[in-house]
Amino acid sequence: DKNYNDKMSILQLISQMLSERIPYYNWVGFYLVDEADSNSLVLGPFVGEPTEHTKIKFGQGICGQAASTKATFVVDDVSKEENYLSCSPKTQAEIVVPIFAKNGNIVGEIDIDSHEKAPFDQDDRSFLEAIAKLLSERFW
Ligand code: SME
Repeated sequence: DKNYNDKMSILQLISQMLSERIPYYNWVGFYLVDEADSNSLVLGPFVGEPTEHTKIKFGQGICGQAASTKATFVVDDVSKEENYLSCSPKTQAEIVVPIFAKNGNIVGEIDIDSHEKAPFDQDDRSFLEAIAKLLSERFW
């Protein structure tokens, strides 16, 4: 449907803009809650190296933990995080920001990997949470 196609193309455009404009955003993408299995995430639009993690259960990895806790999760050094799913050996840090529906359920998340260590500060967090909120208001 039109809303679905609009949503997917906007998520793709946002991924492109963020990865082009912010040098330390090296993989930028969206995971969306699987409508057929609401305890898992499926890979949505992204920019960066392809990943084998196209489906992630809640609780698994940084993405799954952010989904379970419904909170932004910043990992400064992924080598120190035990519950982590590696997409690229180049990744050193990651931020995952949940996207919520109006009823408070999680519907997806923004996921960003960086090749730098500890690059994400309060400004990144606020900026990405604002994007998540705008997307939620428009599409969920
Ligand atoms: N590193 C993530 C998996 C997704 S990739 O970063 C694209 C995780 O631990 O959940």
